[in-house]
Amino acid sequence: MQSQKTQTVDGNDLKVFSGRANLVLAQQICTHLGLPLAKSRIDDFPDSEIMFKVDEDIRGRDVFIVQPTCEPVNDHLMELLVMLDCVRRASARSITAVIPYFGYARQDQKHEGRTPITAKLVANLITSAGADRVVTMDLHAGQVQGFFDIPLDHLQSQPVFTRYFTQQNLGPLTLVSPDIGNVKVDGQFARRLNADLAIIDKRRISDSEVQACNIIGDVSGRTILMFDDIISTAATICAAANLLKERGAGRIYVGATHAVFCGPAVERLSAAPIEQVVVSDTIPISSDKLAQLPKLKVLSVAGLLAETIKRIHFNLSVSSLFERETT
Ligand code: R5P
Repeated sequence: MQSQKTQTVDGNDLKVFSGRANLVLAQQICTHLGLPLAKSRIDDFPDSEIMFKVDEDIRGRDVFIVQPTCEPVNDHLMELLVMLDCVRRASARSITAVIPYFGYARQDQKHEGRTPITAKLVANLITSAGADRVVTMDLHAGQVQGFFDIPLDHLQSQPVFTRYFTQQNLGPLTLVSPDIGNVKVDGQFARRLNADLAIIDKRRISDSEVQACNIIGDVSGRTILMFDDIISTAATICAAANLLKERGAGRIYVGATHAVFCGPAVERLSAAPIEQVVVSDTIPISSDKLAQLPKLKVLSVAGLLAETIKRIHFNLSVSSLFERETT
């Protein structure tokens, strides 16, 4: 396994491009790989259509495009599609869309009549545009993997969060799943941290309002770590934190892979009885939001993504990297 990790990447054979969604993450991935970001230009035409141009030869190369489809979701998605089309027409040998945050994943089924399944629509668009493979992280629902008919590597951010919270020495923890949909992932996380598990029974009132109704498990006097895939409006996390405090919980820490942070999220998190909010850098966070939320800590997943890219390039196992990191 060690020999796999020490292989050196040849910058002439592996090209990493970035859209405009998270340039800092793409640059950090390149630093881990020991490569410069591949040369390209992205701009908007006067009518807001997207223009992309590759500025180096990529014929016969393995191309990776880093672009989380975060807010503004439609612009970033379209930009990814334009980039995929471009590198396909420029005769890349293989094209991998690296989508650390996959937007539209929450509409993964018809929750009621006459509604779309946008997760499937977006999977079709990405494939039609030219991707041979997708790398993504902590999908809202694991089954979205099956919406793609091309290989997809589904990474977990848990190794990064496990390392961080273990180093914090918070004492005995109760891992609280704020959403029943995330309970399987939270169960794995609890085992890795040697923590008890509790679950919040929540009811969604609207897109930005949630009621935390009950807690399954013992939280009184316990130090809590809540972990979710996404913090969007922060309704879920903040309602859960308030209920945990009502039930006598001690200090509350929160972890989430994707900091969507829309609408009232930052204000809600500031006011909530939470010691620290820890997120990853799959989505960039503006300096304004960082300044408004001093209890926010951002962990980087660039190293994990870089190692994954390297392994795909060298045709090595991605899951074995993950097993080794997580056990
Ligand atoms: C639930 O389905 C997800 O795991 C998250 O709990 C949810 O998307 C978070 O949304 P919000 O922050 O708006 O409550």
